[in-house]
Amino acid sequence: MSKEPIIETERLLLRPITLDDAQACYSWNSDERVTRFMSYSTYTDISRTVEWIRSAMANEKEWLWVFVLKGKSKVIGSGSIVPSALMKGFWGIGYNLHYDYWHKDCCTEAMKAIIDFAHRELGVNKICSEHAVDNPRSGRVLEKCGLQFDHYGEYSKLDGSETFKAKIYTRVWE
Ligand SMILES: CC(C)(COP(=O)(O)OP(=O)(O)OC[C@H]1O[C@@H](n2cnc3c(N)ncnc32)[C@H](O)[C@@H]1OP(=O)(O)O)[C@@H](O)C(=O)NCCC(=O)NCCS
Repeated sequence: MSKEPIIETERLLLRPITLDDAQACYSWNSDERVTRFMSYSTYTDISRTVEWIRSAMANEKEWLWVFVLKGKSKVIGSGSIVPSALMKGFWGIGYNLHYDYWHKDCCTEAMKAIIDFAHRELGVNKICSEHAVDNPRSGRVLEKCGLQFDHYGEYSKLDGSETFKAKIYTRVWE
């Protein structure tokens, strides 16, 4: 039984990820347009997606949902919140969306609901996230979720192939 509850928004159902979602997740894990600024490299084998889902499901500290388009039952993205490795005492948020569903405000709709859940049910009062300066679209998602620019930093791909100048955003509840 997963710890993540099903969360309903206007257009989406957010539900805990399962191994049955591997094919859907691989459809964006393997798309360079989506992975360009992600820390993972573009997957060329679905076994990498399966491995990622297994490790995420085993991580008690990470709360991860897939975004399902209501009516179509189509899995279009994923989003998570986890104690941050970037800033002490903060929780970090992350997300990616299948390219066909960009520009529809779906990611913002999902992440607003996840942040709201984390604040109300988990008592999370400090969240942060970073995005590459060259990926301003992600920055807009953060702004629309109530985060504000805090400072500049940088991050690298997990395989060390590239380093990005980054903007770090935070939101703190008093
Ligand atoms: C980041 C991501 C989830 C955003 O999805 P999306 O569906 O485009 O997001 P939204 O529609 O909710 O919002 C995007 C915003 O960026 C804006 N935008 C689009 N292109 C832009 C650009 N080149 N420069 C600045 N803003 C831009 C849009 O106008 C929109 O803002 P608005 O609502 O104020 O008009 C999606 O692009 C994605 O999956 N990217 C790859 C993975 C990724 O980068 N994840 C985050 C890593 S930090």
